[in-house]
Amino acid sequence: MSRSVSIYVCQSCGAQTRQFFGRCSNCGEWNSIIEEKIHRKSDKSIYTKINSPKEQSPYRSQLISHTKNLKTERIPSGYEELDRVLGGGLVPGSLVLIGGDPGIGKSTLILQSATAMAHERAVLYVSAEESAEQVKIRWNRIEESDSKLHLLAETDLELIIEELTSLKPEVAVIDSIQALNDQNLSSSPGSVAQVRECSSALQQIAKRENISLIIIGHVTKDGMLAGPKVLEHLVDAVLTFEGDRFASHRLLRGVKNRFGATCELGVFEMQTDGLSEVSNPSELFLSKTSAPGISTIVTCEGTRPLAIDLQALLNPTSYSSPRRTTTGIEINRLHQILAVLEKHMNLTLSRFDCYAAVAGGLQVEEPGADLGIAAAIVSSFKNIELEEGMVFIGEIGLAGQLRLVRQMQQRINEVIRLGYNKLIIPEGINTYEYEENKNIKIFKASNINQALIYALSSKE
Ligand code: TYD
Ligand code: MG
Repeated sequence: MSRSVSIYVCQSCGAQTRQFFGRCSNCGEWNSIIEEKIHRKSDKSIYTKINSPKEQSPYRSQLISHTKNLKTERIPSGYEELDRVLGGGLVPGSLVLIGGDPGIGKSTLILQSATAMAHERAVLYVSAEESAEQVKIRWNRIEESDSKLHLLAETDLELIIEELTSLKPEVAVIDSIQALNDQNLSSSPGSVAQVRECSSALQQIAKRENISLIIIGHVTKDGMLAGPKVLEHLVDAVLTFEGDRFASHRLLRGVKNRFGATCELGVFEMQTDGLSEVSNPSELFLSKTSAPGISTIVTCEGTRPLAIDLQALLNPTSYSSPRRTTTGIEINRLHQILAVLEKHMNLTLSRFDCYAAVAGGLQVEEPGADLGIAAAIVSSFKNIELEEGMVFIGEIGLAGQLRLVRQMQQRINEVIRLGYNKLIIPEGINTYEYEENKNIKIFKASNINQALIYALSSKE
């Protein structure tokens, strides 16, 4: 029997009401509520079709020791950088969501990976955004060899599910979830109801047929994954693909991962023939020039240490309150570091505008960068270049003391690997093993004064 109901759904958080409101009472967003007509052609939803028949047992639960072990062997994605972010490859039967700005290269990345995986196993690429011919043009650009990749250009959820059940691929790609359309719902593709319905139907089929699903999703203006939050809860891993559209490198980050560490970072470079992996990213983010206001730090993205350059510029201000601007660094951290420097090093920074930036469009959010930011600021303030080959690691406390940060060992090893010869770190870590190494000098400071006076005086 056909029936139609109107509900009002917040496009930002997915909350549903029976009435229209100008502001969502759940998330507080203005003008985000739109009317959606839920029009079911039949009372039988798509779920009943794909739900497996109930087992013949008086209980629904089972003993965990009797529960079947999942096939845990991971499927290599064909790219080491992608495998790293996934935690060692795709887990059979898992759902992975990849989000990112339009044009950043999501389709290219996943098409390349799907092509690589198709050499070994059955892989289906569902293109809901582009026609088969358009995908072929892209594929011609990135692939020379032959590949057994199945391609389906379709937006209808039911047809896609049919293809998944009959082809039974090991891996399937949906590009993108916002373009899928469940005919049973009258709301337009991309709306909260559609995304929710399509993703839960896909999840059920993936779990039942043990298909690894890679779902591509769009992001909203402020960088959040478009669609309801349920989508993120539903999937096993959420990755984001980001980068400066004007630079060629792209960063793949793990935001959530049920089968591996989050905060892992994979680095790619966009070229004319597709994306290629960057296995030594530290070299990408170092400017290799020295000038007052530039310092080098080693930050840790997941388990991967990354050496990058920080820049600061201080100019006498012409306003009553000085300007503070950052790129890639949190502004509050800058305020805090400036306040600590002013108090503990007696610098009159409040009369200066301060700009701080990370080279290469990277975001550095961890506190381990504090000492490096402070060094760049003081170097610009005093107009003294920092010594070449000097690296800073450490968090600055409000009392001016230095604190150790996580994964010091890995960071120190990266510093040595890249051939830097001076390292300034907080006290409290054992560095005996490096003492015999003539190529590196490690200076341990207990407070910011000690660290920066050492850094600037060793230049003279
Ligand atoms: P695309 O994968 O379509 O992005 P998304 O799916 O995230 O929207 O990437 C498109 C961009 O990548 C486009 O601006 C062109 C560029 N590109 C290259 O520079 N080289 C290539 O080999 C390919 C396939 C794309
Ligand atoms: Mg795309």
